Amino acid sequence: MESEKILILGAAGQIGSDLTAALRERYGNDAVVASDLHEGIPTALEGGPYVQLNAMDRQALEDVVQRFEITQVYHLVAMLSATAEQQPLKGWDLNMQTLFHCLEMAREGKIKRMFWPSSIAVFGPKSPQNQTPQHTILEPSTVYGISKVAGESWCEYYHQKYGVDVRSVRYPGLISFRGAPGGGTTDYAVHIFHEALKHGRYTSFIQADRALPMMYMPDAIRATLEIMHAPAVKVRLRTAYNIAGMSFNPEEIAESIRRKLPDFSIDYAPDYRNEIAANWPASVEDSSARQDWGWQPEYDLDQMVDDMLVQLKGAYVA
Ligand code: SER
Repeated sequence: MESEKILILGAAGQIGSDLTAALRERYGNDAVVASDLHEGIPTALEGGPYVQLNAMDRQALEDVVQRFEITQVYHLVAMLSATAEQQPLKGWDLNMQTLFHCLEMAREGKIKRMFWPSSIAVFGPKSPQNQTPQHTILEPSTVYGISKVAGESWCEYYHQKYGVDVRSVRYPGLISFRGAPGGGTTDYAVHIFHEALKHGRYTSFIQADRALPMMYMPDAIRATLEIMHAPAVKVRLRTAYNIAGMSFNPEEIAESIRRKLPDFSIDYAPDYRNEIAANWPASVEDSSARQDWGWQPEYDLDQMVDDMLVQLKGAYVA
């Protein structure tokens, strides 16, 4: 296992910035090839191989897989919920074509295993809002959600029909300090820290009492590594697993930040992203992931807030 050669697509994004480091620690720097659209190597990805790659370009993608003798791909390319609502067809094309490129490479035996992320965006207004189950109504109201539901079904199809070893989780909103979030609805829970430290206040585009499922990045990275390292028989679901971390609304995260920054204030100017969030769960139920491959989150709201403030303080306080 540890002799794998790994390619990360979209490595400069929010998840990739942390996942690349975690995979390099595990497999060694040279065994993990980071790729993204940027021409020069992004700072977070220094220390190992980097290639400029447009994952929409199947030939270029295959060339990299061949050149580095890649065995596993972590596909992190996506246009997220808020951005994809602005350019629906472009979002659909990007999210689906890049997935198909990887599924096809796996079907043809060019790679042995792949990770592709799904999202809480698969759920919609008809799904139960609290403790949303693994198996329930999936009728998403965003282009991003539609691409994730379709993607999940295609992953399962490739697994059933062709034996492709593809694994996936439905990430909640992810909070991290390394890579910047890239156009999602849950991004407010990252912006709030930067604004709290810089200006002592934040205007939230999500309404005060709108709770969403969230997760601190170290838990998300661990979930990703755990599902990718689980024995194949344990990964019974080849759509994508619900994984829960924490659930909070803007008022509650503001309250938690005030434990450390008592003068912090928040006000509200909900926009179209608040409507996207209105159709997502407040929390998800993750017993399938717990049972099948032993998933367990570590961070709760206060622990996450404490760590975020410590990690980011250096960037703002002289
Ligand atoms: N965090 C993502 C978004 O807000 C959901 O997967 O788009």
